[in-house]
Amino acid sequence: MRVLVTAGPTREYLDDVRYLSNASSGKMGYAIVRAGLELGWDMVLVSGIVDLRPPSGCEFHSVVTTEEMRNASVELFGSCDGVIATAAVCDYKPKERVTGKISKTGDPVQLEMIETDDVLAELGAKKQKRWVVGFALEAQNPRENALQKLRRKNCDLIVLNHPSAIGADSNSVELINASGETEQSWSGSKTEISKELIQWLAKRVV
Ligand code: CTP
Ligand code: CA
Repeated sequence: MRVLVTAGPTREYLDDVRYLSNASSGKMGYAIVRAGLELGWDMVLVSGIVDLRPPSGCEFHSVVTTEEMRNASVELFGSCDGVIATAAVCDYKPKERVTGKISKTGDPVQLEMIETDDVLAELGAKKQKRWVVGFALEAQNPRENALQKLRRKNCDLIVLNHPSAIGADSNSVELINASGETEQSWSGSKTEISKELIQWLAKRVV
């Protein structure tokens, strides 16, 4: 079993020094990689910049922007049996990246933003026999929105969690299948939840 995991935030630069991002710590993805390694799986980690050491024994690919995460993930997915997408991808990027540094003028600034590549949707569209597990971070109508995401991105399963999980050590999640049924609910540390998820997948997908 060889599994791709995307983790952490991506950054989108306005100029050479300023960027948009989010507070993702990468803890969930790194815990999933450790849980997979413990089961003897080959784990391939594509991670945005986080303050964590890559688990020893995994194949580690460091990326910064969404485009880099997309390129690395699409290439590596070909040699994997499945993907677990925990990354908190920066959803928008400035339409143009300025070379150098934008100077302040004292006036308000307007930025034109466009959507970034959807890494998981592209992997879902290319999955063929591979399995695809997404994460969904929902503030409103959590189950409906998570199921819509599962379908839009052609996932087999989606792990629903709440914005309070961002950066935290613990989490409370629901594993939802393609029929919209809750297969499992887990609460606890991200390490505990990761072990439960990997053990559940090991019974279903191996
Ligand atoms: N994802 C991705 N590429 C993106 C956006 C999201 O691969 N550009 C993945 C995330 O890693 C996660 C899933 O898609 O596995 C859902 O991410 P989420 O942020 O909850 O959903 P979005 O589709 O980005 O929609 P929104 O943020 O508007 O709710
Ligand atoms: Ca998003």
